[in-house]
Amino acid sequence: MDLTIRPRRLRKGEILRKMVRETRMDPSSLIYPMFVREGEGIAEEIPTMPGQYRYSVDRMGEKLDRLKEAGVSSVILFGIPGYKDETGSGAWAEDGIVQKALRRMKKDFPQMYAITDVCMCEYTSHGHCGVLCGHEVDNDKTLELLSKTALSHVQAGADMVAPSDMMDGRVRAIRETLDQAGFQMTPILSYAVKYASGFYGPFRDAAGSAPAFGDRKGYQMDYHNSREGIKEALLDVEEGADLVMVKPAMTYLDLVAKVKEAVKVPVAAYSVSGEYAMIKAGAALGYIEEDKMICETAVSAYRAGCDLYLTYYAEEIAGFMKEGRIG
Ligand code: PBG
Repeated sequence: MDLTIRPRRLRKGEILRKMVRETRMDPSSLIYPMFVREGEGIAEEIPTMPGQYRYSVDRMGEKLDRLKEAGVSSVILFGIPGYKDETGSGAWAEDGIVQKALRRMKKDFPQMYAITDVCMCEYTSHGHCGVLCGHEVDNDKTLELLSKTALSHVQAGADMVAPSDMMDGRVRAIRETLDQAGFQMTPILSYAVKYASGFYGPFRDAAGSAPAFGDRKGYQMDYHNSREGIKEALLDVEEGADLVMVKPAMTYLDLVAKVKEAVKVPVAAYSVSGEYAMIKAGAALGYIEEDKMICETAVSAYRAGCDLYLTYYAEEIAGFMKEGRIG
């Protein structure tokens, strides 16, 4: 057969295949989402996310040790507070759960990079991501509370804040507040392109943050839209976001690719709780092989163009990278 071009030539043997890989990754781009809760001596497994735990502050170190060992150097913290109220005041409390976790982490793991999720839904009695006016979330009043929350995180030691509420104007509001308090150098990672997604189900169980009525469609995006996602990303960069995120990841890789083209800041993709739970459940039933699914899913996000990858599988993925299986 007279074939000049044979794509299979570059697929012969492991060494060559690795040599011509188009997607390169490394553990420094992984961010592990971690749940911290009130109490002592607690590491409780999350029923809808087998293998993931809610840690009390005194036991966070167990996971942080393993992450460090694996080469994962950053985490994003989610707090599960001891009390909730109408405005979500636990979010900015001096002795709030995230604030306590930050102080502990900065003391015991000074090299670990601490990002915090800034949102009200874990702290409000109604489970919405802001203050209510009737049955609607009041955008502009919520900005003040988000800013206060972000500032209190930074004062407690957060290296970066990540607002996930999807209120309009929150990046600008948080930037102004941080600047006025002298934290000009603290970056903001905006959950800019965040869809109203069924894939958050297990997270809401884990954090006890499901809305008591209605849904989040009045602030999170409709998954039929992609141009709107670009608009959100551009707007947040204009407001001062240093990095932007697309969330969920797996079913929104088109957005990862488009946002990467549209903005000049680093792009993060968040492989959310439902993505994790699907792989876990499929593997537990013996329908799929967990390791293969983890690797393929992670690489797909990087191939689409993400620079940072938030994943509950961070420790495992770092291990596969080290082994040279991916990356
Ligand atoms: C807070 C927040 C959510 C997630 C991250 N930050 C839940 C939501 O918006 O309902 C979801 C993360 C996951 O599913 O892993 N607003």
